[in-house]
Amino acid sequence: MKKIIAVLEGDGIGPEITAEGIKVLNAITKKYHHDFDVVYAPFGAGAFFSEGDPFPNRTKEVCDTADAIIKGPVGLAVEQMDRIPQEKRPEIAAILPLRRRYNTFINYRPVRLPKILASFSPLRPQVIGAGIDIMMIRELVGGSYFGEKTEGQLTRMEYSIDECKYSNEEVRQVAHAAFDEARRRKVPLTNVHKANVLATGRFWKAIVEDVAKEYPDIEYRSILVDNAAFQLMINPRQFNGVMLLENMQGDILTDQAGGILGSLGLMPSACIGPEKGYVEPAHGSAPDIAGKNCANPYSMIGSVAFLFDKCFGLQDEANDIWNALFTVFGQGYRTVEFVVPSTPKNKILSTSAFGNLVVSIIT
Ligand code: IPM
Ligand code: MN
Repeated sequence: MKKIIAVLEGDGIGPEITAEGIKVLNAITKKYHHDFDVVYAPFGAGAFFSEGDPFPNRTKEVCDTADAIIKGPVGLAVEQMDRIPQEKRPEIAAILPLRRRYNTFINYRPVRLPKILASFSPLRPQVIGAGIDIMMIRELVGGSYFGEKTEGQLTRMEYSIDECKYSNEEVRQVAHAAFDEARRRKVPLTNVHKANVLATGRFWKAIVEDVAKEYPDIEYRSILVDNAAFQLMINPRQFNGVMLLENMQGDILTDQAGGILGSLGLMPSACIGPEKGYVEPAHGSAPDIAGKNCANPYSMIGSVAFLFDKCFGLQDEANDIWNALFTVFGQGYRTVEFVVPSTPKNKILSTSAFGNLVVSIIT
């Protein structure tokens, strides 16, 4: 059956890493005899300047008719971003509306560093040990991101409010997704919370513990978010398995986990709702290196693997891509951010060379 994939390349390095993702998508499509139609549409800061809206109506229409969406990072250099009025900034007027539109409440952010790539990490090899394999699951459409906002400026700078609200159903549905993932992987689940201070933290913990009763086969534990931040640096391997986080805490700790990997270029992600989802690298648009063919496309190619796995339930296709990605690094190839003085020149990869290698391993 023909599937439609909307492609929002975004800004900065978006188009060049997306091109590599699409190369891989095409290679897999051919190998496994799928039928995909790819439709490009503008999204992000560039779309604001060209169309007056970072999430134009025609892009919404393309996304509405698509079965899944591939999204690149958004954002331009500071001088350009400063020319965008607050209410049209891509975070507020494009990314959050995209999440809301498709109710993408589950955000998968895998943190994988096999032992042989321990040198990528700023942490000592003993800390990486046998390897890191954490599936972070962040709630993506609730909490303070989507609560009512009272802006200081409008109230003469006297105060401002970000309402943080979670309903029983909102916590329950993402908790189910996280326990289901733990069951599929046969791994423990760590629930992150701030129950010692926040009402929403106590509520979150209570609901997740209620859901845990339905999964007696899954080893469960909970941890305060501040302690989790500390422990992620001291001994990240204790979290191997699934980690469940609310929206804001998940935003922060997933970036910290990217630090363990040594580069946000190694952070693909999938944002999944009841009907459809989108996949995206969890990093920014790096305008300073845009157009130089030196960005690491791993996050985007990994996001395409996620598209097969989480949007279409096609695990073989996804595994084929993951294997190719790790094979490239396993053969000693390095994208520029991982180059050290001992890296042989012929092992240094440009953005497009990385994509080509992945494709040659797949086909
Ligand atoms: C992320 C980003 C977004 C977030 C921003 C760009 C709105 O940091 O996806 O992690 O805060 O969720
Ligand atoms: Mn973030």
